[in-house]
Amino acid sequence: MKILVIGSGGREHAIVSTLRKSPDITEIYAAPGNGGIQSEAICRDVKATDIPSIVALAKEISADLVFVAPDDPLVLGMVDKLEEAGFKTFGPRKNAAILEGSKKFSKDFMKRHAIPTADFEAFKDAQKAIQYIKSRNSYPAVIKCDGLALGKGVIIAQNEDEAISAIEDMLLGGKFGDSGKQIVIEEFLKGTEVTVLAFTDGKTIVPMPPSTDHKRAFDGDKGLNTGGMGVIAPVPYYTPAIADECMEKIFLPTMNGMTQEERPFKGCLYFGLMLTDSGVRVIEYNCRFGDPEAQCLLPLLKTDFLKIIQAIHEERLSDIKVEFDNKSSACVVMASGGYPEKYQTGFQITGLDNSNDNICIYHAGTKLSTVNAAPAIVTSGGRVLAVTAIADDLKSAVDNAYKKINDIKFEGAHYRTDIGNKALKNGFLPQK
Ligand code: AMP
Ligand code: GLY
Repeated sequence: MKILVIGSGGREHAIVSTLRKSPDITEIYAAPGNGGIQSEAICRDVKATDIPSIVALAKEISADLVFVAPDDPLVLGMVDKLEEAGFKTFGPRKNAAILEGSKKFSKDFMKRHAIPTADFEAFKDAQKAIQYIKSRNSYPAVIKCDGLALGKGVIIAQNEDEAISAIEDMLLGGKFGDSGKQIVIEEFLKGTEVTVLAFTDGKTIVPMPPSTDHKRAFDGDKGLNTGGMGVIAPVPYYTPAIADECMEKIFLPTMNGMTQEERPFKGCLYFGLMLTDSGVRVIEYNCRFGDPEAQCLLPLLKTDFLKIIQAIHEERLSDIKVEFDNKSSACVVMASGGYPEKYQTGFQITGLDNSNDNICIYHAGTKLSTVNAAPAIVTSGGRVLAVTAIADDLKSAVDNAYKKINDIKFEGAHYRTDIGNKALKNGFLPQK
């Protein structure tokens, strides 16, 4: 089979590497791919959001399957257009990707199906939003753009001034473009965050091991929010009792609710969860693999990835057994100095060779270039790469990831040194 993978990040590198293990795959293409993906797939320079050009590429190469990995083409309806052109796909259609594409939709959906989440109100009018926030007078308050905003559309306001300026930035200042034309104001949830990704075909849902991203730029959860600086899985505080509660109150009602509303979700559904004193709440849904959650979880997958994808396509996920290694995984992201703000690129990366099967290096912001007339991999983005280590226990996985990180060098490299620390120190629920 010939597969086309859409996207250019570390997540897509992990997807390509995992698909390569499948005996039935003969060729993998990526659009646009990156400096690491190009050593495992044929990269074609087509933008991941350019739907007509992606459909044309799928036709040109006669793709047997197109895997749409990032949020924006999914929300824009790339899967629908590929299906109309006769291609098999992995990823939800537009009417299901809206679970991530509109916070207002997802909050109303959860209300309709009694799925536990933070209380909320939605607004398009800034004066009404400001009136509401003043009368509510409870902080922190969470203010979110309705649409996609590169992970930056959530403001946790500590007081009225911060709340009003967030509302004004979104609804009046156009800071987030169309994504911020509508906002959701919601209750602040206290607790511990966990992410569960699940395979679903709209009839069956199979959760992957629970994971946790580290979103802030610096150690101790300091600094700005980023796309994600590291992930561990499984997290020890996601107990079997919590897993049962999530399945009964969140995962099944979400899948069944979407199917009932004639928006069957097929693909990977991402549940951002908060474990609170009064039960688990949904913080958000994403309609795809997380990045870097994919880099942490896919190396644990034992079942042939292609078999899972085909079963989802044919709506027979219940017929197959999806298995993950009963091991721990730790993924640490290396970023350009300055990320997520200003950073420089073009620096040569050394120490990338790896012969250890329990270590994976996934490229994100890298490209093939030349340094002193010789081919070299150089930095080309904010998050540059991720190192994932698999081991029998979490501590060894974290230690091994950092050992490999120490070999990899580029000017200004920045990474967190505390990935997994909270889980290792506290064992169970981290201190609030
Ligand atoms: P989201 O883009 O919705 O995942 O939000 C980004 C981050 O903001 C989440 O990972 C949480 O850390 C935080 N967040 C979002 N909503 C809430 C909430 N209602 N209460 C507390 N924290 C939140
Ligand atoms: N790591 C968070 C996300 O992919 O949305």
